[in-house]
Amino acid sequence: MKKILIILLFFIPGLIFGQKFPNLAPTPPMGWNSWNTFNTNINEKLIKDVADAFVKDGYKDAGYNYIIIDDCWSMKQRDEGGNLIADPAKFPGGMKTLADYIHSKGLKFGIYGCAGTRTCGDYPGSKGFEMKDAKLFASWGVDYLKYDWCNTPGLNAEKAYTTMRDALYATGRPIVFGICDWGDNQPWLWAKNIGQLWRISGDIAPCFDCVVDHGTYKDWGVMKVVYMRKDIRKYSGPEGFNDFDMMEVGTGMTESENRSHFTLWSMLASALIMGNDIRNADPATVSILTNKNMISINQDPLGIQAFKYKDIDSTEVWVKPLKNKEWAVCFLNRKKEPVPFEFNWSEHKINDPDFDFTVDFSREKYNLFNVWTRKQGGTTGETMKSQIAGHDVLVFRLSH
Ligand code: GLA
Repeated sequence: MKKILIILLFFIPGLIFGQKFPNLAPTPPMGWNSWNTFNTNINEKLIKDVADAFVKDGYKDAGYNYIIIDDCWSMKQRDEGGNLIADPAKFPGGMKTLADYIHSKGLKFGIYGCAGTRTCGDYPGSKGFEMKDAKLFASWGVDYLKYDWCNTPGLNAEKAYTTMRDALYATGRPIVFGICDWGDNQPWLWAKNIGQLWRISGDIAPCFDCVVDHGTYKDWGVMKVVYMRKDIRKYSGPEGFNDFDMMEVGTGMTESENRSHFTLWSMLASALIMGNDIRNADPATVSILTNKNMISINQDPLGIQAFKYKDIDSTEVWVKPLKNKEWAVCFLNRKKEPVPFEFNWSEHKINDPDFDFTVDFSREKYNLFNVWTRKQGGTTGETMKSQIAGHDVLVFRLSH
């Protein structure tokens, strides 16, 4: 009797007030998503090959685990029973078998849904079918749901995302819930108890600082996404991260730009979701995406998003507090041309504007580890003199 009472006490608050699964994203989720490169052109073989590449090419070892199928995986209509059906031409073995394959590699399986009547690619959305779809996803072994916001006129975002959160929770299967309303409804203000991450921008474009105008909507280059919102870093942290979108590393930018992009996503504690064709990535791209020193800055347990400390001419200085009073510092050259760069640490006292972290380099000395050359060298007691290539970064981990 006592046992039953304890069990009831544990579950009832969740049933009455609703809740999301705990402890699914203590640090930003890491994985791969089909959209940026493959769009509607997805199939079972591709996804299996990506799972194989995760293991063979070191992505799993570097910490990536979610393999997420984006939009356009289903048939254009539900079946007579109102169920979503995976397109048998694209996924002949069905989603459960594919999920089993992914799980057999020690990886996790993610899928895409939409809060509206239809997805952005015009496939059936989950509006009115939330419980049915959540059950189906859970029965397939889904571990991550990206939930989009197309075709939602009249819907209240907080309510719609709460409905799906509750449907997921009711299945009993822990499923990461990725909110994708592009920041239109300011999810950072209300989504902490709903999802583990929320997009803060429209879709990313594979360029450093461009805007691609499609008429009714725009896609945004890396730096445009970085600067899309003001004053939202205080809302991001373990179990509820600002999501700067799937990465464009390896989809067309220069090596320097790829390095800067990956650095910024790591510094900003964004989800690290690869968007390139990892089956055919060149060695430079693989080496960027699997840099464990950069990844450990992204995965730091404090989960704090970096802030921009300063502009020094064309160089931006980004700073991220890390556990054990360590820091990550990134110098980003916004120019296309290389710039000589000097930084006299002892002239700088840095105060985190949102969290209680501060460092005065005239009083405290740190050792410098260069995250991209992967070399220890120098201290904050010396003036750093260097050169930064165009659109490139210098990144240091500071420790005692
Ligand atoms: C929206 C999302 C993208 C992608 C597409 C799929 O635009 O923001 O990330 O999921 O839909 O149609």
